[in-house]
Amino acid sequence: MDAPKEIFLKDYKSPDYYFDTVDLRFSLGEEKTIVASKITVFPRVEGSSAPLVLDGVDLKLISIKVDGKELKEGDYHLDLRHLILPSPPQGKFTLEIDTEIQPQNNTSLEGLYKSSGNFCTQCEAEGFRKITFYQDRPDIMAKYTCRIEADKLLYPVLLSNGNLIEQGTLEGGKHYAVWEDPFKKPCYLFALVAGQLESRDDTFVTRSGRKVALRIWTPAQDVPKTAHAMYSLKAAMKWDEDVFGLEYDLDLFNVVAVPDFNMGAMENKSLNIFNSKLVLASPETASDADYAAILGVIGHEYFHNWTGNRVTCRDWFQLSLKEGLTVFRDQEFSSDMGSRTVKRIADVSKLRNYQFPQDAGPMAHPVRPHSYIKMDNFYTVTVYEKGAEVVRMYKTLLGTQGFRKGMDLYFKRHDGQAVTCEDFFAAMKDANGADFANFLLWYSQAGTPVVKVTSSYNAEAHTFSLKFSQEVPPTPGQPVKEPMFIPVAVGLLDSSGKDMPLSSVYHDGTLQSVASNNQPVLSTVLRVTKKEEEFVFCDIFERPIPSLLRGYSAPIRLESDLSDSDLFFLLAHDSDEFNRWESGQVLARKLMLSLVADFQQSKPLTLNPKFVQGLKSILCDPSLDKEFIAKAITLPGEGEIMDMMEVADPDAVYAVRTFIRKELASQLKSEFLSTVENNRSSEEYVFDHTNMARRALKNTALAYLGSLEDSEMTELALHEYKTATNMTDQFAALSAISQKPGKTHDDVLADFYTKWQHNYLVVNKWFALQAMSNIPGNVENVRKLLNHPAFDLRNPNKVYSLIGGFCGSPVNFHAKDGSGYKFLGEIVLQLDKLNPQVASRMVSAFSRWRRFDESRQTLAKQQLETIMSANGLSENVFEIASKSLA
Ligand code: PHE
Ligand code: ZN
Repeated sequence: MDAPKEIFLKDYKSPDYYFDTVDLRFSLGEEKTIVASKITVFPRVEGSSAPLVLDGVDLKLISIKVDGKELKEGDYHLDLRHLILPSPPQGKFTLEIDTEIQPQNNTSLEGLYKSSGNFCTQCEAEGFRKITFYQDRPDIMAKYTCRIEADKLLYPVLLSNGNLIEQGTLEGGKHYAVWEDPFKKPCYLFALVAGQLESRDDTFVTRSGRKVALRIWTPAQDVPKTAHAMYSLKAAMKWDEDVFGLEYDLDLFNVVAVPDFNMGAMENKSLNIFNSKLVLASPETASDADYAAILGVIGHEYFHNWTGNRVTCRDWFQLSLKEGLTVFRDQEFSSDMGSRTVKRIADVSKLRNYQFPQDAGPMAHPVRPHSYIKMDNFYTVTVYEKGAEVVRMYKTLLGTQGFRKGMDLYFKRHDGQAVTCEDFFAAMKDANGADFANFLLWYSQAGTPVVKVTSSYNAEAHTFSLKFSQEVPPTPGQPVKEPMFIPVAVGLLDSSGKDMPLSSVYHDGTLQSVASNNQPVLSTVLRVTKKEEEFVFCDIFERPIPSLLRGYSAPIRLESDLSDSDLFFLLAHDSDEFNRWESGQVLARKLMLSLVADFQQSKPLTLNPKFVQGLKSILCDPSLDKEFIAKAITLPGEGEIMDMMEVADPDAVYAVRTFIRKELASQLKSEFLSTVENNRSSEEYVFDHTNMARRALKNTALAYLGSLEDSEMTELALHEYKTATNMTDQFAALSAISQKPGKTHDDVLADFYTKWQHNYLVVNKWFALQAMSNIPGNVENVRKLLNHPAFDLRNPNKVYSLIGGFCGSPVNFHAKDGSGYKFLGEIVLQLDKLNPQVASRMVSAFSRWRRFDESRQTLAKQQLETIMSANGLSENVFEIASKSLA
């Protein structure tokens, strides 16, 4: 293996050659597959004599022709990763290359591979080079045709991008289909599927009256489980027209579900390929969370048609250009389909639990990374989720209409192009004549800014001052940071809990009006741009309680001087529902951290009665949305708390969280009981906000009750388990029971498996639940499950459920004896031989090893070192492991 090479954004160069048309012919076979490609090539600069360098990995070259003339050895160079033509003809020419590949042996699941007997592709980011020699980079945009030839019985369905223009039967039991995609595209959006599939068909009529055929393809027995995906697709198509004026641009839209897939789904032009977990759902087999994920991801991939496909990325450093924007769009879509506040809470929790730790660790990178070894490693929560927050800030600053103007200009300028994050920024700015100060730093500086706020009221002057100071912590390669542009949405509550009218703010030596149409506003966005800065609200006639960073207007850590009683007040009264939740979380975080300190000093733990009272009033407030209540009474996760500690102490955090949960359960037992009683499901499962909210609240209450050492409560959970009529309730009851070891635990888990053994998606839930268990010594059980007949290391979903689930357990993954680390270390090396992308995701669980005590550090480091010293390590795992050790 060559030494892994780091690739830098600053080294970007335009390609020397462009491709105009690409004709692909696939002959799919059991032993081998032949790929014939015919490309028309032209130089970027006329008369150029630069070599043409094509990427190619794991390919067997059969022949190569230039303008119809076969090249001999010596006319070209071939190495492990490239095919180079040292002196191609001047001007336009055609290049024909035949290659042989073996999809049946491809366990990496990138390029062309087989899943359950069917052929399918995954080309993003750099998988196309495993199919044929090509300039595998997104700024090469070409028009494709694709002819697929295969056995007719084994592969009755043949799909690729665009429109079907020809099909027919051939000798020897074969048939073929020819697809033509009228839109230019980068090769990462190419797709091919061939296999035994059936479809659910529907149509969507666009707002300009065009009829689009929609087809969702799965194995025949799963077609009934695609109704929700189809509903989601149609809703997404309509939403994009309504909100962004964006219409679908072809007459056919295909979605294919495959069981073996590294990621969630892929937006290939008009042929989205999905992990079947994000397509298949029925009330009996999928939970509300699954239904919501399907809605969001079907939306996400569909929205990519404009933000990603019509306008794509110049290079992979720009990934957030399409992903941050498209995540933002799918978040907004889900908000509009359900509850905006609850969706925002879920998204912010995800950011805090996953992105903040990444931003504070050895893999920290900006939304637009400066370098990478393997691009696959940069499909991260930073690029996706923090990237979406960056897009959200444009909208916060510009308003809905201003943001829309920016989007319109972006498409007007760049349709059909491969562009950069600056191009998006410029469209937003130019469309609005906006002053965005140093906003671009959000793309280049890594690390979560810490913003401190202190407030003071001047009763004589009737002014209220907010003083901000900000600090961006150092991250690898970026020791010193500049202050960022942080939009802080603020409202001020009066003593009755109402928003005070805001008219003007004194800032930077001038008095600025914040009124809108001469009317005072109830909330305003402060533009914090300096290291230290003061904003003074005028005409404030009583001491207010500030509601800061409303709706979480910037992806920062906010440290305010609000007292507990201020926070309880906000929890009870803030008109910004997100901040009501947030106040409760701030209180819970403070409480948990102080109990962790008590635990570490072996002091007895006691729960502040005010906290219990605060949660009780939320739990019993009939005016509140039930899903909001469920979120508000849920404590911050262990990861979030560990992330806030000097030295993360998983045992203490777990003990404290468990203590608070049990304490709440016993003190609020009757409230939780009546919550369960009053929110049982009706017979029929409905996926809508009201019903989901009811289930969420009931199941949150049940989980609390299940934590009690109380056989009556175990009976209750068992009863819920037995009477459940949908997976949401059934699985929630199972989870409640499985918190405690014992016979009921064992019996119910066995019963669940027996019931669902023929549904692999449900079996994965069963794996995950057991893997995540905090019952001490669970590593042995997980090791046993590795040998369970339903487990398979080659299937990413199974790995994510069992291994990924295990890494989420503070008790067992971080077990003091190192047994959890050792287990993961072994698995990573096994996985790396099969599927480097999946291995790399798993090894990431080690990346924050320095956050723990010395003895854990030593144990985790040993595992990383063992991994690093393994022969033939993939670049994927090399990058994560070496950066973790650096
Ligand atoms: N582009 C996909 C998305 O919608 C993610 C993906 C990346 C899928 C790489 C497969 C491989 O976010
Ligand atoms: Zn995406």
